[in-house]
Amino acid sequence: MQGGLTSLFALGGGALLFPMTCARQEARASVSPRRRSVTPRQTGQLVEIRRTARVSNVEVSPSRVWRTWTYDDSFPGKEIRVREGDRLRITVDNQLPEETTIHWHGVPLPNTMDGVPGVTQQPIEPGAQFVYDFVAAPSGTYLYHTHVGLQLDRGLSGPLIIEERQPRYAYDRDYLVILDDFLPGDPRPLSSGGGGMMSVVTPPYEGLMVNGRLASAAPVFDLRRGEKVRLRLMNPSGATTFRVAIAGHRMTVVYADGRPIEPRTVDSVVLSMGERYDVLVDGTNPGAWNLIGAPIEVQAPAARAVLRYTDSAAVAPPDGQWPEGLTGGVALSLDDLVSLENQGESAQSDRRFDLVLSGGMMGGAWTINGQAYPNADPLDIHEGERVEVRMRNQSMMIHPMHLHGHFFRTGRADKDTVIVPPMGSVAFTFAADNPGRWFFHCHNLYHMEAGMARVFRYV
Ligand code: C2O
Ligand code: CU
Ligand code: CU
Repeated sequence: MQGGLTSLFALGGGALLFPMTCARQEARASVSPRRRSVTPRQTGQLVEIRRTARVSNVEVSPSRVWRTWTYDDSFPGKEIRVREGDRLRITVDNQLPEETTIHWHGVPLPNTMDGVPGVTQQPIEPGAQFVYDFVAAPSGTYLYHTHVGLQLDRGLSGPLIIEERQPRYAYDRDYLVILDDFLPGDPRPLSSGGGGMMSVVTPPYEGLMVNGRLASAAPVFDLRRGEKVRLRLMNPSGATTFRVAIAGHRMTVVYADGRPIEPRTVDSVVLSMGERYDVLVDGTNPGAWNLIGAPIEVQAPAARAVLRYTDSAAVAPPDGQWPEGLTGGVALSLDDLVSLENQGESAQSDRRFDLVLSGGMMGGAWTINGQAYPNADPLDIHEGERVEVRMRNQSMMIHPMHLHGHFFRTGRADKDTVIVPPMGSVAFTFAADNPGRWFFHCHNLYHMEAGMARVFRYV
């Protein structure tokens, strides 16, 4: 398995995916993110929404019904789409047999609305309701999902789209491409199986999905020749990192985790858990084409969707049509991401944390500096500081590290989730401008639950 992982990273553009050296990254970590207002004013309408979490049956292919937990019997959860500055008031009705919460992944909202049980709120008991109320800003492609235990791997997630008031790009179609993994049974904690070897351990997924559909029942995205299509790629999966490519087409990446970046045209994009990329695709190649999400850490059948030109005779991609971008071409790298919101300021960090990410050994714990949350020290910061975080991954697995409540600057881009590659290092800085207690964790659900988490605490 380790050999397989290494060779997958080395494949084609894979080498380009993680080209950063520590030295370069550290130099860049001193560039400061734009200071933002964390309590944006309501400038639009009040949007009232309800989400009912309950046990339901959903169809993941015509021959497969999945009995699981959903929002409103829909998997993924129904899209929430508002405009920047609207005020969202969402009543969550918990009809599950367990307590739950909803987290608004990526949105820098007030701490009490962040949805982390035991950190920002009491969990919502079965039969109870909770109202989340916040101003939707800034614009971007976000996720909402449960933040209790391993519930995310049952399907309690959905897309949250905050549209720009002044659109930056013109396009003809806007499609969501939600990548997920399919775990038919109850999610259980993983253990590495002992032996003391660092290994790659994942749950017994039975397939990978786009928009809740297995590859055998791939969703179809229609377009016509000459149109421009916006695809919002997002990964709310439990434990799968995907490389996404489209046969016959390149993608121009325009947003990373919802933040606008200088456009980059590439052949593939890697998304780990919690990441989002918005891409524009030009409809210049009539036919029917596979969009593939291939898993990076494991050998497993890929997720699939179809891009179909309605003005072409082809109704389905030919068998075995495989995007060239999965094995060659240009892969998006973290180095390619250049924020369009960079104000060009530079600042020294006031406080620095050096964090070693490790685990996956015999006991099954995943740790930050040897501590497994919740038996872990908070990371104390003061409002107004610029905080620098350096992470070193001493394991053979990918850790998509996610910070709540803030965007951080990594390299030249702003993100809220960043991949720390196996045995690699990544740094970021953020402006401590949103007081509260903010969860910071690996977005691999099983790593988070096994301890790879901390709380940034304003003191
Ligand atoms: Cu998607 Cu703690 O978050
Ligand atoms: Cu989050
Ligand atoms: Cu991890």
